Amino acid sequence: MMDRTDRHCRYFLRQISRRTLLYTEMVTSMAILHGDKQKLLGFERSEHPLSLQIGGDNPQDLAKCAQIAADFGYDEVNLNVGCPSSRVQNGNFGACLMLQPERVAECIAAMASVTKLPVTVKHRIGVDDVDRYEDLVKFVSIVSQTGCNRFSVHARKAWLQGLSPKENREVPPLRYEDVHRLKQDFPHLSIEINGGFVSLEQAQAQLQVVDAVMIGRAAYDNPYLLAFADSQIYGEDTPPPSRHQIVTAMLPYIDTWVSKGCKLNSITRHMLQLFHGQPGSRIWKRVITEQSVLSGAGVEVVERALNQLRFES
Ligand SMILES: Cc1cc2nc3c(=O)[nH]c(=O)nc-3n(C[C@H](O)[C@H](O)[C@H](O)COP(=O)(O)O)c2cc1C
Repeated sequence: MMDRTDRHCRYFLRQISRRTLLYTEMVTSMAILHGDKQKLLGFERSEHPLSLQIGGDNPQDLAKCAQIAADFGYDEVNLNVGCPSSRVQNGNFGACLMLQPERVAECIAAMASVTKLPVTVKHRIGVDDVDRYEDLVKFVSIVSQTGCNRFSVHARKAWLQGLSPKENREVPPLRYEDVHRLKQDFPHLSIEINGGFVSLEQAQAQLQVVDAVMIGRAAYDNPYLLAFADSQIYGEDTPPPSRHQIVTAMLPYIDTWVSKGCKLNSITRHMLQLFHGQPGSRIWKRVITEQSVLSGAGVEVVERALNQLRFES
């Protein structure tokens, strides 16, 4: 998620769940090809398994990006065919590519031709008036012929005009049944459902009918919900870490980055919701929010917040 799942966020989420697949925020092909690659694409080994999500529409450029992703050590490359923002539409990528399945197929084929990494697609169930189930089937049929065998489907359509990206995540109704039907009609494909899930119980129910569940906003707004994923979803028998253990595990990482000049707030902002719904959550957020932005702020702010929370709760 843009402005959310950067490397610090992912490192933090990885302290909570070892097994879930994490995605980067969307990085455009232009940024990858012409920007600071290390800054845009660098990650810690512990972030695996990790999918790089790319936005673009030029097969040759996307192929170069897929190669770069493989060189960086990503586990998967994912093409964004779901973002409806006007900036993205102006570049002819994101959700508007749902109207050009042949183009998406070309992009996927080009990416798959240069790497052994799985090349997957994140898309909507439709855009504008092209939103019948048959349109979705056409899209998946054409794109899957390229060898793409995992589709992450945000179970609502997008309106390309008139709705903001935020509204496009809320206003069009969720149609889970379309995604379920897709799995029935394409049993050989891996179908990941996305949109509106806020608990692992909901995810488990979905796993009866689809192959995977992607959780976006809820994983950011209440990250500790991922703590039980390794045992409940992946069958591991190790107990989940406590919230305090998660904070403690972050301290050396924070210290390293801050000593390299990174602003404390750029890491701690992702940790604000760790105590969501818990006693002391308010004091945790207050100390972190107020003190992380002070000049010279370092790991001691996080230790202080944890101590105050222990005292309060
Ligand atoms: C702030 C924000 C940024 C997002 N950025 C991306 C993105 O970069 N790529 C993407 O595929 N989806 C992005 N999304 C959409 C989510 O991945 C997801 O499809 C959507 O929020 C619905 O799932 P949810 O209800 O679990 O959040 C973003 C969502 C939010 C709230």
